[in-house]
Amino acid sequence: MKKIDVRLGPNSYSIHIGSGILKQTGIKLKELGFQDKAVIITNPVVKKLYGALVEQSLGDAGFKTTMLEVPDGEQYKSLESAGKLYQQLAESGAERSTVILALGGGVIGDLAGFVAATYMRGVPLAQLPTTLLSQCDSSIGGKTAVNHGLLKNEIGAFYQPVMTIADISVLKTLSQSELTGGLGEVIKYAVIKDKDFFVYLEKHLDLIKALDEGALETIVAKSAQIKAEIVESDEKDMGLRNILNFGHTVGHAVESVSGFRVVHGQAVAVCMVATANIAGELDIMDYDSVIRLTALLNKAGLMTKLPQLDVQQVMQSMRFDKKVRSGKIRFVLPRSIGQVFMTDDVSPAVVEKVLGEMI
Ligand SMILES: NC(=O)c1ccc[n+]([C@@H]2O[C@H](COP(=O)([O-])OP(=O)(O)OC[C@H]3O[C@@H](n4cnc5c(N)ncnc54)[C@H](O)[C@@H]3O)[C@@H](O)[C@H]2O)c1
Repeated sequence: MKKIDVRLGPNSYSIHIGSGILKQTGIKLKELGFQDKAVIITNPVVKKLYGALVEQSLGDAGFKTTMLEVPDGEQYKSLESAGKLYQQLAESGAERSTVILALGGGVIGDLAGFVAATYMRGVPLAQLPTTLLSQCDSSIGGKTAVNHGLLKNEIGAFYQPVMTIADISVLKTLSQSELTGGLGEVIKYAVIKDKDFFVYLEKHLDLIKALDEGALETIVAKSAQIKAEIVESDEKDMGLRNILNFGHTVGHAVESVSGFRVVHGQAVAVCMVATANIAGELDIMDYDSVIRLTALLNKAGLMTKLPQLDVQQVMQSMRFDKKVRSGKIRFVLPRSIGQVFMTDDVSPAVVEKVLGEMI
């Protein structure tokens, strides 16, 4: 088992990563001084697989536990779902000291986190992420949110959990496409911060895809460590944390112009390739590195060529993205594998040329 400490002063907490550790949930909460009542927020898919295990662990540690369910899907990460959960929390007698446990992927983590941040002005939250993406990314850093109308992830709060338990054995029940999408985020971490990690991924991708527990524990821990370090230096997303958006500037535009036929993980992957090609075109990164990144994403089962899309529409969509400042599109560009920087000085003509060549 690995433990990563996220150092955020009074909001510090630990991330526990290992196989079969969900059953330690109750005892770990008790060690932190919590007792009495706990509420698990999950969805029907995850409840069926792991709900009883977590409930039992909390019961064994003396917690009186309630389980609340939200239907599965991004569309339920909403104010309406939050409203229903507030009502159910009140009916179940949840108090300021009641711990909310978010058991599920990023959708449940964001929604339950938002509810924990706002119910009675904040109750303790524990994150129990069950997808590769949520274990490596969304459960770390305290961003909680719901969607509302056109505002995706824009209604929310920064709210750190009291602990996170990432049990890698639960990744065995994930669908292939969820696993592949999560791998895209893992590769993103290597590119933005850690060349040795990138080499590890190149060497061990087959083991990772075969769900080898040692390899999974390593990639979740390494990604969590990188994200934790970035969050420690920019908890409230005022600057450095933006490097986590590597691949996302073009990614959101591709997702949106494709009518969401290209799913998020695939869009981010193809856009990491696009961004690397932009850096290549500008002589910022050498083409050997662009080829290595493309090959790794390809081998992981991720998209490295753009689908048939209208490049003008993608350009237009990028101009509407929240990463646009004073009319200029902000890019996170790789300098080399393991190092990126932010710039709003990329000419639209270069972006257009690269996107055109990638279709
Ligand atoms: N807060 C952040 O910093 C942050 C960062 C990145 C993404 N996000 C958010 O995360 C969300 C995406 O998260 P996600 O990719 O985990 O998707 P998700 O939560 O929708 O989960 C994907 C699917 O896997 C199922 N599932 C979950 N765990 C499972 C398991 N162990 N076995 C079998 N099935 C399982 C879910 O029921 C769901 O159908 C988006 O809403 C995104 O905005 C947040």
